[in-house]
Amino acid sequence: MKTPSDSQNNWDSLREKIIGLGDHSLRKTYYPELQQKLDDLQQSEERFRATFNQAAVGIALAGLDGRWLQINRKLCDTVGYTEEELKNLTFQDITHPDDLKVSLEWFHRVLAGEIRNYSIEKRYIHKNGSTVWINLTVSLVSESSGNHKYLIAVIEDITERKRTEEALRDAYNELDKRVAERTAELVKTITALQEEVADRITAEQALQAEMRERMRTMEELRRKDQMLMQQSRQAAMGEMIGNIAHQWRQPLNTIGLYIQGLLVPGECGEFSKEHLEAGVNKAMQVIFHMSQTIDDFRNFFRPDKEMTLFRVDEVVAKTVSLVEGSYRCQQIKVEVKTKGEPLINGYPNEYSQVLLNILINARDAFLEKKIADARVELRVFTEKGKAVVTITDNAGGIPAGILDRIFDPYFTTKGPDKGTGVGLYMSKTIIEKNMNGRLTARNTGNGAEFRIEV
Ligand SMILES: Nc1ncnc2c1ncn2[C@@H]1O[C@H](COP(=O)(O)OP(=O)(O)OP(=O)(O)O)[C@@H](O)[C@H]1O
Ligand SMILES: [Mg+2]
Repeated sequence: MKTPSDSQNNWDSLREKIIGLGDHSLRKTYYPELQQKLDDLQQSEERFRATFNQAAVGIALAGLDGRWLQINRKLCDTVGYTEEELKNLTFQDITHPDDLKVSLEWFHRVLAGEIRNYSIEKRYIHKNGSTVWINLTVSLVSESSGNHKYLIAVIEDITERKRTEEALRDAYNELDKRVAERTAELVKTITALQEEVADRITAEQALQAEMRERMRTMEELRRKDQMLMQQSRQAAMGEMIGNIAHQWRQPLNTIGLYIQGLLVPGECGEFSKEHLEAGVNKAMQVIFHMSQTIDDFRNFFRPDKEMTLFRVDEVVAKTVSLVEGSYRCQQIKVEVKTKGEPLINGYPNEYSQVLLNILINARDAFLEKKIADARVELRVFTEKGKAVVTITDNAGGIPAGILDRIFDPYFTTKGPDKGTGVGLYMSKTIIEKNMNGRLTARNTGNGAEFRIEV
C-alpha cells in the first residue's frame, strides 16, 4: 500500500520511468501534460504531508488490526511515544483498560460496515503511565471494490478540558454537598425555630391564662378585703356601742347625782337661783363631754379619704380614751409613755382602728385569763426615722403554736359569737398595704407585745 510517507525517491524513479517513455514519439506528445500532472500530484502530496505533520491535532492511519501505520507529530507528543515505537503498537495497546471494550465495539461496527465513522471520548495511557483524555474521530477508507483499506483517526487531546470539567464537577458536587448540608442545617434551624415559636406561644397562652387567673384572684381578694373591712367595721361598731355604754355609765351617774343635788337645799338651806345654775352648769358640762364622746365615735367610723400628716401621740390618746370606759370597768390600767412627737403621713382613723383592735384583743385576753393586776402599756417613740407604737400587755401572751397565724383572716380562738378573726388581719392590711409600714407581734415574759412601725 502506498502511503503519504513514501520518500522523494519514489517520485524521482517515477519521473525517470515517465521520461523513459519519451523515446516513443507518440507518447512524446503527451509528455509535457504528464509532466505537469506529475508536478501537481507531487505538490498536492507535499501539501498533504505538511498538513499531516504540522496539524494541531493528532492524525493517524491505522490498519484493520488496529496497528498504527502512520502517525503525525502531534499524536506522538500526545502519547509520549516516537513514531517508530508507536508503529510497533496497536491502538488497543495504548487504550485505557476501562475504555477498551467500548473502543473495540465501535471499531468492529465500522469494520462490519454498520457505520462509516464514529466519534468518542476515551483515554490513552501515556508512555509515562499517565492518563490522556482524547476525542477520537475515526473514518474508514475503502477501495472502490468495497474492500476496506485502512482507518483514519483524528485524535484531539482533551485532557485539559476533562480536567477542567472534572474540577468543575468536583466543585459542583462540593457545592451540591454544601447546599445540601446548609439546607439540612436550615431545615433543622427552622424546625427548632418553629418548635420554639410553638413553645413560646404555649408559654404565652399559659402566661395569659395565669394572668387572667391572677387578676381573678386579685379581684376576689380585693372583694374579700372589702368584705372583711366591712365586717371589721361592723364588729368595731358593736364594740363601740359597748364602749359608749361604758363611757356614759359614769357621767350618767354623775348627772343623776347633780340632778338629785338640785333637790337638796344649798348651804344656807335655800333654793337659790345660783344654786340651781351651778347644778345645771355642772350637769351641762358632763352632757357636753358625753356629746363629745359621740362625736369622737362618729369621727372614728368616718373613713379617711386622703392621707394626712398626723401626730401619733394624739391618735393614741384619743383611741385610749375610747376604750377607757370598758377598761375601767374591767379594772385594766392603761399607761401611755410618749417620747417626742412622732408624725405619720397616712390615715389617722384607720390607724386608730388598728390601735383599737389591739387594745380590745388585750382586754379580751385579760377577761379570759382573769389576770388580777391587768395593765397595758403603750409606748410612742421614733426609731430609725419611723414612728413606732408598742402595745404591751401582761395577759400571759399568745400561745407559741398560733403566733404565726394570728394575722390570718378568720383566725380566732374566741367563741363564734365573740370573735370573727378579722381584727388583726385588717390591722395588718391597713398598716402594711395602705400605709407601707409593719405590724408584728411577739411574746414578752408575761404577755403579748404588738409593734406598729410606719
Ligand atoms: N393580746 C393578746 N393576747 C393573747 N392572744 C391574742 C392577743 N391578741 C390577739 N390574740 C389572739 O389572736 C387571735 C386573732 O385576733 P383577731 O383580733 O384577729 O381576731 P379575734 O379578736 O379573735 O376576732 P375579732 O377581732 O375579729 O373580733 C385571737 O383570737 C387571739 O387568740
Ligand atoms: Mg380582735
